[in-house]
Formats: sequence, C-alpha cells, structure tokens
Amino acid sequence: MERIMIKDLSVKKGEEVLIKGWVDVARDQGKMAFFDFRDVSGKVQGVVFGKPDVLEVAKELRSEWVVAVTGKVNERPEKMIKEGVLNGDIELEITAIEVLNKAETPVFELDKDTREVGEETRLKYRYLDLRTERMKNNIIARHAIIKYIRSHLDEQGFFEIETPLLTKSTPEGARDYLVPSRLYPGHSYALPQSPQQYKQLLMSAGFEKYFQLARCMRDEDLRGDRQPEFTQLDMEMSFVTEEDVLQTNEELLIKLVTELYPDKKIQEIPFPRITYADAMEKYGNDRPDIREDKEDPNLLAFCWVVDFPFFEKTAESDDPQAEGEWTFTHNPFSLSKPEDIEKIRTKTDIASITASQYDICLNGYEIGGGSIRAHDPEILRSTLQILGHSDDKIDANFGHMMHAFGSGTPPHGGIAWGLDRLIMILQGEPNIREVMAFAKTREGRDPMMGSPSVVDKKQYDELHLEVKKKK
Ligand code: AMO
Repeated sequence: MERIMIKDLSVKKGEEVLIKGWVDVARDQGKMAFFDFRDVSGKVQGVVFGKPDVLEVAKELRSEWVVAVTGKVNERPEKMIKEGVLNGDIELEITAIEVLNKAETPVFELDKDTREVGEETRLKYRYLDLRTERMKNNIIARHAIIKYIRSHLDEQGFFEIETPLLTKSTPEGARDYLVPSRLYPGHSYALPQSPQQYKQLLMSAGFEKYFQLARCMRDEDLRGDRQPEFTQLDMEMSFVTEEDVLQTNEELLIKLVTELYPDKKIQEIPFPRITYADAMEKYGNDRPDIREDKEDPNLLAFCWVVDFPFFEKTAESDDPQAEGEWTFTHNPFSLSKPEDIEKIRTKTDIASITASQYDICLNGYEIGGGSIRAHDPEILRSTLQILGHSDDKIDANFGHMMHAFGSGTPPHGGIAWGLDRLIMILQGEPNIREVMAFAKTREGRDPMMGSPSVVDKKQYDELHLEVKKKK
C-alpha cells in the first residue's frame, strides 16, 4: 500500500490507508489503546480495539517512536467531532503497526512549547526542538517566505546568482571570520560579511537585476537579533535611482505580507520616510518603532530611514577596521546625494555630506539597508581617500573595483534585508534563533555539533598555524 500523508486522510473516509510518522501521544486503556500520530503534515488520532495481536504491539509504543500504521479511516460520531481541528472528524481504526525505530524518552516535552526550556538544551538537541509545533511552523513559514520572494523577483526580471564564500576581507564594519590557506602559508580567505563587492561586479558584468539568499558571516557581539552567521535577501539593480530601489522593495514587502500574513495590518502605506536627523531627534535611534499600538501583535509599522550622514569621526564609531580620521556610517561603496558629489571629489565639508543611503525598519528593528553606489572610479577613490586609505592600499585592495568601474559599469544601487529579522517579526518571535533551523548560542557556540572545536595538530600544521597557549 502506498503511504498517505496525514493531512490528506479526511478524503479517504471508509478506506484502508497506510500512514508513516511518529507516535505523538500514547494512551493505554487496558483493552484499548489510543494514539496521536504525527507526520510533517499534521496529526491524527488512532485507536486499537478487538485485535489482541495488534494491541500487544500497541502497548509497547512510546512517544517519538517511528511507526508505519495501517488502518481504516472512520468518521467520528457527531458528538465526538472536534470542529476546526485537522482530522477532527475522523479516527483511524488501527489494523497493523510496524515499528520502524524506537526512541529514547525525549530530554524535554515535545508536545509543549519549548520557550521555557534552556537555550543550551534546545540547541544541543535542536533536531528534537524542531519537532515541536511552533518551531516546525517557523521553519515552514521561512520556506514559504523564501519561495514567495524567489518567485516574485523572478517575475520582476531578477536573476539569482551565487557568489563565493571563500573570499577576501571586505569592509562591512564588523570583524571577519578568516579561513587560513593551506597552499599559501600565512594567507587567509575571509568569509563574506556580505556579497557587496560581488553584487556590484555583477552589475559591471551586465546582469542588471541580481538577488541572492546570501549567507553572511560577521564576528561581532551577539544579541537577540544578531547571529554570527545569518541570511540576507541581497539585491542589486542597474540604472536605478534611490526611489526605484525603495519602490521595488516596498512593493515586495507589501505583497509578501498581504499574501502570506493576511491577519497582519501594515500601519501605513506608502511606508513613511523619516530622515536620520529626525529619527535621532524624535526617537533617539535610527531604527524607530513608530507603532501606534505596541500591544497589537498583528501591527506592522514599516518605515524608511533616509538621508544618513556619509561619514562619521572614527573616534565616535565602533568599526574595528577604521583607520583614518573618518569612517563610513554604512558602506564605503555608497554614493553621496547628487548635490554632495562635488564635496566628495574635493574632500571638503566632509561632516555635511549626505549619503544616498536608506534603511528599512519594522517595529523598532533595522530589517534592511542599502544605497546607491559610486560607479565612477574617481569618486570611489576619493571616498576611500577620505577614509584614510593611501593610493597604494586602494589599488591593492580595490584595484578590481576601480578597474571594473573604469570598464563600463552602469549606475547601480541595491539593498540587503536581514531575512532572519523579518521572519522573526512576522512570526511574532522574540529573537532570530527561533526562526533559524540551526542557530548558535549567544556566545557563538553550537552545542549540538560542538563547534568551535580544537582540531588535530596535524590540521593546524597543514595550515601553517601554531596555537599559542592562553596565558
Ligand atoms: P548591512 O550591514 O546593513 O548591509 O546588513 C543588511 C541587514 O542585515 C541584517 N544583519 C544581521 N542580521 C542578523 N545577524 C547579524 N549579525 C546581522 N548583521 C546585519 C540587518 C541589516 O539591516 N552590503 C550591505 C547591503 C547593501 O548596501 O546593499 C549590508 O550588508 O537587518
């Protein structure tokens, strides 16, 4: 017999079926045994009675055992029907049970929300945590969101293009994760903090509209909305203005919410735009929570924050890579507002230069940011000079960008969403770990795999590394 998914059982009333899945709950009642069975699609109640040989197997079953169950789909008597519950109108009359695998008693209860279970334990046994209803729903919602984004952007003429993970240190404002090279002693790759340079080079290559669900790695202090490894919806477009990028993203966000979260209400459309200066003055931060009613879990208050200062004094920034007197507030590849380009060229009145940069905020979180980029090599050089880079260093680190920009690169701009943060808010979760299948602890460890870990001396030797004992 072919296996049927549990969610499809109600159209098989009166028929004999085979299901496969887990024992969710087992209740032994002497001459009868009741069960809830579960597969990825849902749950169903099953009952054994009047079949001594089946009952014998049934009595052994425990929660989380994996089984193949054959049975007849019976309609429940009128007064036993559970309205609004999947399979609330049917019951499986079990005729055979095959045990596919036994299970230890789970370290925490899987038929309850695991919010109260310690984070370390949940991450150590993540494969069990993910069996719980809420976590399963979060991961499936994530799938639906990604699927929606992919198909929408495809319709809009975007190409999804992968970029390397073994790359070179790029200035994104955080510390890099390095991968030492075996073949080049003393040399390291860096894991990307974002695909920023690659996506700009794809504009140079002529693809015009790019996107990627991009994994980004940043070695920074962790918080509820920060993981060392996270996912961006990364986009870049050619021949666009700031307005075009904002419109494209606003349209996608509105459609996504309307289609996938019909119960949610977007507070204001079009999304309000707040200047950085106003946000700082009125809300004291650059990711304002403009919700009119903070008690309403279904309210989504999107807003754009625009007109950021391009540069800030290094002394006032926490950028570990900053060197000179000035550092960038977002991205060294940004362009200023058109009216300030001359100030970049002449390096005057630096504090007053406004960037063509925008952040998208939702309910007090920064869920994305981007800018229109410099595509003229001289403007990029001038920007990097303001940041204190010597010409030698610019040519060594950004020669490829300079050359690309001097080889027919169109005007372009883009954005990257912090996808985990958006999903966290849409799913009503308090931190991004709840919407990632395999997250790290606040201290950046993976207690399940046991990473980071000490590796064999031989491996360090091959990489030409010597480990110093901590004093
Ligand atoms: P930015 O550095 O602002 O821009 O990153 C874009 C968005 O990514 C999210 N984010 C994070 N999410 C989880 N954990 C983290 N550690 C983390 N760090 C950032 C935020 C943020 O808004 N290349 C540019 C984009 C561009 O200019 O197109 C970039 O990476 O939601």
